[in-house]
Amino acid sequence: MPTLRNSLAAADISHHLHPRTNWRTHEAIGPQIITRGDGAEIEDDAGRRYIEGMAGLWCASLGFNHPRLAKAGAAQLEKLAFYHTFAHRTTDIASDLAARLGEMAPNGLRRVCLNTSGSEATETMVKFAWSYHAARGQPERRKVISRNRGFHGSTIVAASMSGLPDMHREYGLPLPGFIYVRCPDLYREGQPGESEKAFAQRLATELEEMIEREGAGSIAAFIAEPILAGGGVVVPPADYFPNIQAVLDKHGILMLDDEVVCGFGRTGNWFGCETVGMRPDMMAVAKALSSSYFPISATLISDEMYEVLADNHKGAAFGHGFTNSGHPVGAAIALEALDVYNELDLITLVRQKGERLREGLERRIGSHPFVGQIRGRGLIMGVELAADPAARQGFPPAFNSAALVNAAAFERGLALRSMMGDILGICPPYVITDEQIDQLVDRLALALDDVTPALREAAGS
Ligand SMILES: Cc1ncc(COP(=O)(O)O)c(C=O)c1O
Repeated sequence: MPTLRNSLAAADISHHLHPRTNWRTHEAIGPQIITRGDGAEIEDDAGRRYIEGMAGLWCASLGFNHPRLAKAGAAQLEKLAFYHTFAHRTTDIASDLAARLGEMAPNGLRRVCLNTSGSEATETMVKFAWSYHAARGQPERRKVISRNRGFHGSTIVAASMSGLPDMHREYGLPLPGFIYVRCPDLYREGQPGESEKAFAQRLATELEEMIEREGAGSIAAFIAEPILAGGGVVVPPADYFPNIQAVLDKHGILMLDDEVVCGFGRTGNWFGCETVGMRPDMMAVAKALSSSYFPISATLISDEMYEVLADNHKGAAFGHGFTNSGHPVGAAIALEALDVYNELDLITLVRQKGERLREGLERRIGSHPFVGQIRGRGLIMGVELAADPAARQGFPPAFNSAALVNAAAFERGLALRSMMGDILGICPPYVITDEQIDQLVDRLALALDDVTPALREAAGS
């Protein structure tokens, strides 16, 4: 077994170009190879088990081997493994999924464009925004405003909308016309003594100043995750979206809602926009749509937008689509996932489990000398570490305190994610048991203890 494992690791190092991984570091340390899943747990090739505290990449909402999703996928593979949705064709199952999504979406977003990845779903929103404005006589509305630390995907436009410098550096991105406003993170961006209300107002004012500087007539859309995930689990102040919405409405700018992480219960409501008081003109969903058992995503729009876009085809076909748009296997798994969510009474379940997680974190690590803030909604939480919590002073950027805790947690059988230097993400599958939530909290607390001497040294205390 060790030889096999070593040869597999060597093959991986030789051939496999890993996403979001430093390739030189990978040459030195090799892969962590996961071979099995069991509910909210995963197992590596050496037989070690881990609680997957991040549902993989904020996605495997029903764990790693849900029998009903496996069965639904297998049955569809046997019945009709592929058919497309171009040129009026469809499958029974793709049409069924579009209708189900259209019926459950908020804000009248009942028209559904099925895609494959989250990046495709967010980019599709940009195409729709451009086409919508052009059809209404404003083709010069092209710019898209997003937020620093927002994440909307890795393809060129999606990366241009992502306010994460690592997504831009190697490629000369963002593309022209993709501009950023401040992240609604009161903890890091708030001024001394500034209230949530004042902070939310300041951000709306900054947005309006940017719109006036750029020219409202040049701006198509504003894109936002209800709760920023990859940028460090940032929950905006209560007034933030209502204030932003008022500015966008005044200037005729569309609100694009990226629900790729927040959709399907994650924040304790069916969609994140309901949690934060956002009123989307379009919405992108993916990940929990199929629990990521199959790559499938969707972009949703209203009837009103549909009418404008349909007329803008001007007799030709809609110039967009992917080979795997509305893939029947993905659709079958997504429909089953939606059934399972309903049977689980998902919203009640996420709120209860989220409360247990929050309460456990507060109790076990809330007063740790290097924990600055514990935040989140439902089953998406962030822990912000700080060299000096009272002063909201982070660790030196190169130190990467969260990566240190993350590595220690992995050693203790817990998979998490480190972000933005000092932030740990926690986003477990909905099928995590109460006992596993307690174990997750316990392992995180022990991992923090493991690295406390190093944190103390870096903090200079
Ligand atoms: C909020 C958000 N939007 C979009 C994406 C891109 O999704 P994908 O990786 O499926 O293209 C992600 C991926 O993590 C995400 O977190």
